[in-house]
Amino acid sequence: SLVRREDYSAPAYWIRSVDLTFDLDPQKTLVINRMEVERNPDLPMQPLRLDGEDINLTRVLVNGESISFRVEGAQLVLDGLPDGRFTLELRNTCAPAKNTQLSGLYTSGGGFFTQCEAQGFRRITYFLDRPDVMAVYTVTLKADAKAYPVLLSNGNLVEQAELDGGKHCAKWHDPFPKPSYLFALVAADLVMREQKIRSRSGKDHLLQVYVRAGDLDKTEHAMNSLIASVAWEEARFGLSLDLERFMIVAVSDFNMGAMENKGLNIFNTKFVLASAATATDFDFAHVESVVGHEYFHNWTGNRVTCRDWFQLSLKEGLTVFRDQEFSMDMAGAASARAVQRIQDVRLLRQVQFSEDAGPMAHPVRPDQYQAIDNFYTATVYEKGAEVVRMMHTLVGRDGFAAGMKRYFERHDGQAVTCDDFAQAIADANPGSALAGRLDAFKRWYAQAGTPQLAASGRYDAESRRYTLELTQRGLPTPGQPDKQPWVIPVAIGLVAADDGRALPLQLEGEPAAGGTDRVLVLDQPSAAFTFVGVESEPVPSLLRGFSSPVVLDAALTDAQLLVLLAHDQDAFNRWEAGQQLALRRLLAAARRPDDGTPVLDEPFVAAMHSLLRDPSLDAAFKELALTLPTETYVGERLGAEIDPQRVHAVREAARLQLAQALRDDWVWAYEHHQPAGGYSPDAHSAGQRALANLALAMLVLDATGSGDTVWPGRAYQRFKDAGNMTDRFGALSALVNAHAELAVPALERFHALFKGEALVIDKWFALQAGASEPVGEHAGRVFTRAKALLQHADFSLRNPNRARSVLAALFLNNPAAFHRRDAAGYVFWAERVCEVDAINPQLASRLARALDRWRALAEPYRSAAREAIARVAAKPELSEDTREIVTRALQD
Ligand code: ARG
Ligand code: ZN
Repeated sequence: SLVRREDYSAPAYWIRSVDLTFDLDPQKTLVINRMEVERNPDLPMQPLRLDGEDINLTRVLVNGESISFRVEGAQLVLDGLPDGRFTLELRNTCAPAKNTQLSGLYTSGGGFFTQCEAQGFRRITYFLDRPDVMAVYTVTLKADAKAYPVLLSNGNLVEQAELDGGKHCAKWHDPFPKPSYLFALVAADLVMREQKIRSRSGKDHLLQVYVRAGDLDKTEHAMNSLIASVAWEEARFGLSLDLERFMIVAVSDFNMGAMENKGLNIFNTKFVLASAATATDFDFAHVESVVGHEYFHNWTGNRVTCRDWFQLSLKEGLTVFRDQEFSMDMAGAASARAVQRIQDVRLLRQVQFSEDAGPMAHPVRPDQYQAIDNFYTATVYEKGAEVVRMMHTLVGRDGFAAGMKRYFERHDGQAVTCDDFAQAIADANPGSALAGRLDAFKRWYAQAGTPQLAASGRYDAESRRYTLELTQRGLPTPGQPDKQPWVIPVAIGLVAADDGRALPLQLEGEPAAGGTDRVLVLDQPSAAFTFVGVESEPVPSLLRGFSSPVVLDAALTDAQLLVLLAHDQDAFNRWEAGQQLALRRLLAAARRPDDGTPVLDEPFVAAMHSLLRDPSLDAAFKELALTLPTETYVGERLGAEIDPQRVHAVREAARLQLAQALRDDWVWAYEHHQPAGGYSPDAHSAGQRALANLALAMLVLDATGSGDTVWPGRAYQRFKDAGNMTDRFGALSALVNAHAELAVPALERFHALFKGEALVIDKWFALQAGASEPVGEHAGRVFTRAKALLQHADFSLRNPNRARSVLAALFLNNPAAFHRRDAAGYVFWAERVCEVDAINPQLASRLARALDRWRALAEPYRSAAREAIARVAAKPELSEDTREIVTRALQD
């Protein structure tokens, strides 16, 4: 059923405290739930309606007396309740071992774990399962002592005891009132690494990371990341840890990345476990950022939470912004910060921009939903973070810190809205560019779709004036045909066209400022900005650091883009200029019939050559700059009539061209970027490895084209001898993507080597399902292999990481293997979505989104995709999650 933001009303009752007792049994767990309830005197007297799902209710007592009750659909309805405060005691059972949805209380690897956000708590017991109802929790866990030696819940451990029959129990108390979505429990056989720290406030804290026996040697990085998170948040925002004990628990069956339960974060193993032998540099970086993300939620999410789920970005957008800043600060040098920013923007464009252009387009603060789990999206998270970043840009770093301070002064302990956050930032910065146009700025929360920004410049040599005209336009999205202008911060510099120097910026009519960098604010459909005293013809460097989440058309010539690529003082825009040049060529080739014309031309290749050899640039930056835009992004920029096979063929041809034309440079890059000494995941070493691995991939690609065996042989050798997973997997990928013969023994060897390491086996599956589909003779090989992987003894649809390792890799990350002219990819998709839906609706609805953009496809893809979606939609027993996705996809 549809839930609307405008229908919000305060709850008719409050639950002030809750005392939960669990008698844990995989088949039948008994839950005793004692609540102190109070009627909300602001509302008329009405029945108490508690949410519940898949649980069996056995008893209801009010103030110790049994009363009559009724169950209406998914709600327990209680009438005739006392007017003041009363105790409500419920007893119910649930079946954790049968909970394949992994929402609520479930079993994994022989232990018990919970996931309650957004609405999992109602699958444990009846409750007012909404974030504005905050209670103090006391939790008693009883379980078999041998099978479940570790018993954890939120807050502080207050009691522990041995019980009869080989059981034991533990009692936990969390002094902070919290919404039910932040409740957690764990009962399992785990080992732990711990560390005492003293925070700036002078208080001592105990940090713990719990994992399965055998994984302890992979927890050092997570612990270091947690310690760094605590220190960073104190230094940057003056916020300290408010708990004596902070725990992280890793679980291998988990729908999402991790969960910020108060004092007891539960993580997908993927974002905790990391060792040099089993995890790549990317994995190390993700562990750091997810540990940071969940830790930062303790303030932005837990101390101040969301009034309702439409406000999800209040905590997620803000916390993503904070984890992005954390990663940037950890990376250190300015150039490393730019690398981090480029990676974040790539993700935003690839995932969020397509979301904004398709049937699931929704505002950062959505207006309606059927299944809230479908709205844990790139829009709410990543675009939401961009909205916070724009506020940061408009009020400045110190102004933003003051705004955060105001936010906590006003709202600590409350459940609030996105409006409350924006108001606090604006109120703390009364004279700022934000405060002056707050209402218009907040359209970023309300309007879906990516704004289209066009820029054109005119230089008058005689008057030495440069006029820049900016125009914005919004495209229609479902339910929002017309848009009002957004407030768009445009960070800008002017680069001299002749020698690339930074020109001073002086806006007409403003007192002399003297900088070479500033932020213009576009808050009208269009506006002109005139700079005076511009001594030579400039190239505008716009949207520096990607200052707003918009699509920019700066109408620059190739020559102008080459100036920016070579000289822009803003590293992000330097990268962007290269991407624009590449994109132009890929789009042009994709639009013309395949007539054998090379995709890339001499000037572009020469520019890439200089960039690769430029001694002033970081290896990490070079790797990003030499990587062509993804097929998904190229498809999006085509706009309509996307032929995924054509896009793939074009991009592969361009890659081969770069491999061949820069062969000597790749040899040089490979040989000169091998960090010495032991493995360290720091940004500098990781950048060197990234470039060396790209070089190796290019060398193997070139060799396969020319029949040379030297580089494939070297890649195989490196695969065997590598001292860390980044290099081993880099070499393996190079073979799997370009050398079918050597890939076979390499994959076999890799599997044998890492048989017992689930996360590494996930990589093994994902690499094959995500491999580059051959163009020509062997086309279809990757798709066939991906299908066959489902029959592999190690494959399972029940474990989300494993299911995604093949299905998400194929459906979401491998357009050429998935979108086939014979529709076999779509048929396979429809079958798997239905199959997974019966097990785990949240997982299925994510996979279902692979065909969101079917309308933009060319024929024959479009009709075949539509038919496949309709086939899924025709299933009567579909979950609400998947139903919502396919229904929206088919709506006009
Ligand atoms: N709050 C968690 C995070 O961002 C994500 C939980 C999402 N869970 C879900 N079922 N949608 O860190
Ligand atoms: Zn989050």
